Amino acid sequence: MKQIVLASTNQGKVREVAMMVQDMGIEIIPLSETAFQGEIEENGTTFEENAIIKATQVAKTLGVPALADDSGLEIDYLNKEPGIYSARYLGHDTPYAIKNKQILEKLKDVPEEQRTARFVCAMALVLPDGTTKTTQATMEGRIGYEIKGENGFGYDPIFYLPEFGKSSAEISPEQKNAISHRGKALRLMKDKIKELCKDEA
Ligand code: IMP
Repeated sequence: MKQIVLASTNQGKVREVAMMVQDMGIEIIPLSETAFQGEIEENGTTFEENAIIKATQVAKTLGVPALADDSGLEIDYLNKEPGIYSARYLGHDTPYAIKNKQILEKLKDVPEEQRTARFVCAMALVLPDGTTKTTQATMEGRIGYEIKGENGFGYDPIFYLPEFGKSSAEISPEQKNAISHRGKALRLMKDKIKELCKDEA
C-alpha cells in the first residue's frame, strides 16, 4: 500500500494522519485532491458504521484504499447524547461557544459523579476489494462547569480531564494526541495497516 485517500475534507485531520503514517512510507491523499464528487450520507447508527460507510464509498468510487473516521461526544447524563449527532447537535451551524453554553446549562445542577462523558473515535480502512479493518477508542472525562481553554476544537472547552485538572482545550496538541480518542484509534489502525502491508509483501 503506497497511498491512502483520507475520506475527510478536514485539513487538521489530514495533517494528523499524514504525520502518523509517514514513517511507513505511505502517502495520505486528501479527498479534495481526488476526482471524488458528491455527498456521503452518514446514515449509520454507530460511529463504526458511519466510518465504514464513508470509507467504502470512497474506496469503491476511486478504486483505492480509503480511510475514514467518525467521532463524537457521549454525555452519560444525556443518555449518551449528542453521540453520532455531535456535529449537528443544537444546529449544524450553531457556534460551539453557544452549544457548549447550552450543554453546561442542561447539566447545571448535576453533581460531579454524574457528569461522566467520553469522546469516541471509530476508524475504518477499506480496500478496493472490500477488505475492511476498523478500530475504535475513547478518551474518558467529565463535563466541566465552565468553558475553558483555547486549544482543540468543538466540545474541548467543556471536556474536563481529571488527570490533568484541565479541559482538553487547555492541554497542548501533543498532550491531546497522546491520550485522545483519535490518536489512540489511529495508532491501533497503524498496526492493522502494518499487518496488511506484511500480507501484501
Ligand atoms: P466528525 O467525526 O468529523 O463527524 O466530527 C464529529 C463531531 O464530534 C465534531 O464536529 C465535534 O463536534 C465532536 N468532536 C469529535 N472529536 C472531538 C474532539 O477531539 N474535540 C472536540 N470535539 C470533538
